[in-house]
Amino acid sequence: MEEVKIALLGGGTVGSAFYALVQERLEDFQALGYAPKFLGVLVRDRAKPRPIPEELLRTEPPDLLQADVVVEAMGGVKTPLALVLPALEAGIPLITANKALLAEAWEALRPYAEEGLIYHEASVMAGTPALSFLETLRGSRLLELHGILNGTTLYILQEMEKGRTYGEALLEAQRLGYAEADPTLDVEGIDAAHKLTLLARLLVDPGFPFSEVQTQGVTRLTPEALQRAQGQGERVRLVASLYGEGGRWRAAVAPRRLPQDHPLARAQGNILWVRAHPLGEVYVTGPGAGGGATASGLLGDLFRFLSGHLGHLPAPAPTPPLAEGSPLPKVE
Ligand code: NAP
Ligand code: HSE
Repeated sequence: MEEVKIALLGGGTVGSAFYALVQERLEDFQALGYAPKFLGVLVRDRAKPRPIPEELLRTEPPDLLQADVVVEAMGGVKTPLALVLPALEAGIPLITANKALLAEAWEALRPYAEEGLIYHEASVMAGTPALSFLETLRGSRLLELHGILNGTTLYILQEMEKGRTYGEALLEAQRLGYAEADPTLDVEGIDAAHKLTLLARLLVDPGFPFSEVQTQGVTRLTPEALQRAQGQGERVRLVASLYGEGGRWRAAVAPRRLPQDHPLARAQGNILWVRAHPLGEVYVTGPGAGGGATASGLLGDLFRFLSGHLGHLPAPAPTPPLAEGSPLPKVE
């Protein structure tokens, strides 16, 4: 049995769930010929209760160069970047759930992603396959993509439709472990914009800049606007869209009005809906946030790595849009 040494950065909602899931799945590791061994788990506060043995907790990063694989679930950009870069330079693969890191530090990380060293299924729609779904779609040309990519704002809108206030629903989304450490990232649409950037790089342009995403969140939506939409047979959702306009790709995140029978309006979880040529229309839907759901994406990537598969490769070159598209109607 070969040991696989894991350095885990972050032992919060996602990191703790990942640690627990690895313990639950030891037989599956064994079947692949591996015995997982955690070198250490980086946290800020060793005294916080969490399902990780105390002797593994570190407030200083474990020596990542001793690891076979680094799993990052700490969040932020600068701190994790400084930690993971030397490991990537040494050829040690990174599995991450951190879309902010990938979206905002792409210049530094892109060469390693192009080498196949970065696995990040969990960064978009948690364990619901979004990146592997799009990888299969590479056999077609993208016409347009629309998605509900943020679990916190979806939960808030669903709860507001049931009569709860925005504040109550946000607090509950935080309690459920859906929200970012700084929930402004969720409610201002920035988290969805991070994810849309990653999807655009995977499908249409490996250099797609995060700054190109036009972003509007849900903070200005009133219960009246949601009720008005419902009265007109519509639902309001925070939609991330990638579409052709004027011969170039446009990316936008905004609250949109959707007919109630639209797949995005019907979805109970996050959803990624794509129209492509020659494939046609296709979508994937499921949980997009939460500890267990995200740990499932990280573990899927770890199994992918142990089975000899490369990480998620960006699109090989920019591809112009095949057709003009349009975003869905905005909420006025
Ligand atoms: P979290 O609960 O706040 O956990 C972050 C963990 O990292 C905590 O254990 C924290 O230590 C540790 N940490 C953060 N900064 C640190 C630093 N400078 N030094 C040492 N330790 C540090 O966050 P999370 O919800 O697990 O999210 C983690 C990552 O996964 C983020 O990138 C997030 O975007 C991504 N993600 C989250 C979800 C979700 O549903 N929650 C889904 C998909 C992706 P302490 O515990 O001591 O504070
Ligand atoms: N805060 C994020 C969300 C976590 O609500 O979707 C999953 O990426």
